[in-house]
Amino acid sequence: MKVRFSLNGEPCEAEAPPTRTLLDWLRETRGLTGTKEGCNEGDCGACTVMVTDESGARALNACILFLPQIEGAAIRTVEGLSGPDGQMHPVQREMITHHGSQCGFCTPGIAVSLAVAHLNGRRDHDAVLSGNLCRCTGYAPIVRAAEAAEEAEVPDWMRDAPVGGEARHGGATEPGREGGIGRGTDWGEAAPALGTGASDEGDPGEASGGYRPRSADELAGWYLRHPDAVLVGGATDVGLWVTKGLRDLGTVAFLNGCADLARIEEVPGGLRFGAGVTMTRVMEALAAPLPSYAAMIARYGSVQVRNAATIGGNIANGSPIGDNPPALIALGATLHLRRGDEMRDLAIEDFFLDYGRQDRREGEFVTGVTVPVEAPTFRVWKISKRFDQDISAVCGAFLLDLRGAGGADNLRDPREGGDPPLIAGARVAFGGMAGVPKRAAAVEAALAGQPFTRATMAAAAARLGEDFTPMSDMRASAAYRLEAAAGLLTRYHADLTGAETDVRRITA
Ligand SMILES: Cc1cc2nc3c(=O)[nH]c(=O)nc-3n(C[C@H](O)[C@H](O)[C@H](O)COP(=O)(O)OP(=O)(O)OC[C@H]3O[C@@H](n4cnc5c(N)ncnc54)[C@H](O)[C@@H]3O)c2cc1C
Ligand code: FES
Ligand code: FES
Repeated sequence: MKVRFSLNGEPCEAEAPPTRTLLDWLRETRGLTGTKEGCNEGDCGACTVMVTDESGARALNACILFLPQIEGAAIRTVEGLSGPDGQMHPVQREMITHHGSQCGFCTPGIAVSLAVAHLNGRRDHDAVLSGNLCRCTGYAPIVRAAEAAEEAEVPDWMRDAPVGGEARHGGATEPGREGGIGRGTDWGEAAPALGTGASDEGDPGEASGGYRPRSADELAGWYLRHPDAVLVGGATDVGLWVTKGLRDLGTVAFLNGCADLARIEEVPGGLRFGAGVTMTRVMEALAAPLPSYAAMIARYGSVQVRNAATIGGNIANGSPIGDNPPALIALGATLHLRRGDEMRDLAIEDFFLDYGRQDRREGEFVTGVTVPVEAPTFRVWKISKRFDQDISAVCGAFLLDLRGAGGADNLRDPREGGDPPLIAGARVAFGGMAGVPKRAAAVEAALAGQPFTRATMAAAAARLGEDFTPMSDMRASAAYRLEAAAGLLTRYHADLTGAETDVRRITA
């Protein structure tokens, strides 16, 4: 498959099998060995590169990025951080001044992550470094280097533009500003996407094994004819099938060229996310209406992972420990599916049939999900061993309909006395507690019709064993999972009645 992009400021064309990773191509074809291979599975950030399209610049892990995903983008590796005359980038200079490197293996990836953040005006350096593992220097000198570089001007050579387009750079100060390769970039007339139907003889994808549709319409017809093809969203799951599973994926379709699958639309009472919307953009969109959901996503993988991973991929993979499904189930989200010209909507809780089995027919794909956002009593919490870059042991999501005295808008501290509100209805869902993410029916029954008190929550928590028989694995024991889930019900009451439940006390 032919792919066109720019590399460190120079136009570039690559011809490679569709599942060739950018990391392998850089190192083996171009000799650009500054980009390191550490884990080869998206965890360590040693392979971080800067990818720019019309939505701006972002850090991505090259080890799980297939070449067709960067069609039309501008790539900058660590070799491209310094200027044409060898001038150092400000973050490189400050990394030296502040002794930010010891063995140096992580350093190229860290320099690229810091340079992208510097370009985008981000100053939340801890969050920026969430996907860059340094085992020997320690983060304090690295953060000091990032701080020291804050006021330095962005070097001109860092302002890449995608092939045939213009990039949007700078001015962002809020965390999570970066977009994602699934952002629905239209590369413009000047840069027809190679690897789309136009580039192959006959049926697109036949010749090269890879297809890059430009719209859901194109994908729908093609996928009906190729129902065994692997769909690739952000490749944060599929990438590992190749790099770790050493699988030959056969025919593959890359969805990040489908602009219509990458939209976020306002609909009455909610937001409709296209399947290709990245987790970074989901986090941004939900920050105001559902802050608890956005805070949970801030713990989803790392910056690099969130910049690639799509909400559609996270749902479609059917994982029992995916972080979106419990939240979406508790909120009563609607999943949108398409097979050829046939569309259907489904309550998302009905999509997950059994471990590894979803209600998805041959040739059918996820087009999006509509999320109700008017839910002030919604909360979701992820429990995992590490703050960043860790998979949930348990993820619990809660939405109670509170009526009567106080109501949902005016919940009192229970110590002040008075009648607690009544729980008119409950939606409670957990991930990590069964083979699928699912609602806790017995817990919900124990809550409905009861006063919203701590005793009610405890009585409901006692019924978790009727809903779930969790397993013990390397993340948590079954007993821990049940206890943690019960704890989240207590936390929900405490949080809604005004107690401080965020126990993090991280100070630099
Ligand atoms: C380092 C790392 C950290 C991670 N951390 C987390 C985490 O904290 N929480 C979490 O939940 N997950 C995590 N993941 C898993 C992964 O990021 C998510 O599941 C992600 O959302 C998958 O999205 P994607 O777009 O990358 O999917 P892909 O890898 O592209 O695809 C995943 C699956 O969905 C299918 N698919 C993709 N799009 C569609 C579609 N539109 N219709 C039908 N099928 C489709 C693919 O064929 C494949 O089967 C992590 C992964 C890595 C590598
Ligand atoms: S090599 Fe570890 S994230 Fe890519
Ligand atoms: S300097 Fe050795 S891993 Fe960071």
